[in-house]
Amino acid sequence: MTAGTPQAVAWPILPGATLGVLGGGQLGRMFVHAAQALGYATAVLDPDPGSPAGRISHHHVRAAYDDAQGLAELARRCAAVTTEFENVPAAALEQLARALPVSPAGACVAIAQDRAAEKARFVRSGAPVAPHAVIACEADLAAADPALLPGILKTTRLGYDGKGQVRVATAPELAAAWQQLGRVPCVLEQLLPLAQECSVIVARGAGGALVHLPVQRNLHRDGILTVTEVFEGNLPEAIATQALYAAKNIARDLDYVGVLCVEFFVLEDGRLVINEMAPRPHNSGHWSQNGADVSQFELQVRCMTGLPLAQPRQHSAAVMLNLLGDLWFDEGAQSAPRAPAWDRVLALPGCHLHLYGKAEPKRGRKMGHLNVTAASAGAARATALQAAAVLGIAPF
Ligand SMILES: Nc1ncnc2c1ncn2[C@@H]1O[C@H](COP(=O)(O)OP(=O)(O)O)[C@@H](O)[C@H]1O
Ligand SMILES: [Mg+2]
Repeated sequence: MTAGTPQAVAWPILPGATLGVLGGGQLGRMFVHAAQALGYATAVLDPDPGSPAGRISHHHVRAAYDDAQGLAELARRCAAVTTEFENVPAAALEQLARALPVSPAGACVAIAQDRAAEKARFVRSGAPVAPHAVIACEADLAAADPALLPGILKTTRLGYDGKGQVRVATAPELAAAWQQLGRVPCVLEQLLPLAQECSVIVARGAGGALVHLPVQRNLHRDGILTVTEVFEGNLPEAIATQALYAAKNIARDLDYVGVLCVEFFVLEDGRLVINEMAPRPHNSGHWSQNGADVSQFELQVRCMTGLPLAQPRQHSAAVMLNLLGDLWFDEGAQSAPRAPAWDRVLALPGCHLHLYGKAEPKRGRKMGHLNVTAASAGAARATALQAAAVLGIAPF
């Protein structure tokens, strides 16, 4: 039973019950798919009447994340609640936790919402982080160690997909960047020489059971995830082992219940550094829908209901391509969007298309992803490169 669980809840919560999720974006939608496949009913809280998850859920509570009445309605309908979105106010999770099991706990989500708190927690769990300083006021700015430059100034809160961060090379640039970001609390991180990026998804149950998905190699472009590759040999064995060990340690240290993604940098000298964590399923784990026997979204359902956490098995080499709205537009053209050639992509073996049901494609907007699975790493990569060529994604 999760900490803060009220009275007696029948545990595990079996299929037939209603499960709630805060947030109606694509992660909420894929959670709803997984919960419904297992026989649960679902309720989504999201203010947007057209939200990707709200449109397919049994119930859609159209309210803001801090609307006490909306939260009360969600609590009335559901046997347990989770989140797809780390920026829900911690107070909302706490209100819900007084009425029903909530995972992950508000306290864990609050740490993940704040880059400074998150880094401090990583250090406590024994994991190396990038050299950094917290910049909360003018005095911090003046006192920033020049050795952190060139660096990246990141807002401590609300950053995602490379938003809320500015690269700075000099002290005057740092001062200007802090102005540009609105003089809000920030973290200045040394710019590290990255050889690779990777992430690990772990799932931890209320009783402490801990399972994981294999280490994922991630390619970002313009701060947004572009490709994830998961197969034997995607990363050096020693790095994969260290990343898995660190991710599990963090989950234990937080007494975390739910799905947690930890992102890492692999430096040119071979060292592993922790970047950040997401207290929810993550874009880099989407491959598990088709490449593993239990997806990250099913793991989320199992964690929140107290169902057993069997160790997932990767059965296929997998490559995931993110499908951004850019693919709906011709290069440089001002013309109206048109659908990519899905028929040509689906003619390739092992291609699994996931579209999120967003009405309007926009540049930079995550519209869907394509999971490519195959019996070998070489075949998965070759097909993924063919699919990328059809779609207009630059080779990787
Ligand atoms: N200290 C750093 N050194 C080098 N590259 C970085 C550093 N911090 C971030 N990046 C690059 O920017 C990307 C986005 O940064 P991240 O902190 O993960 O923010 P977000 O919350 O937007 O994902 C990273 O995946 C990495 O490619
Ligand atoms: Mg990131």
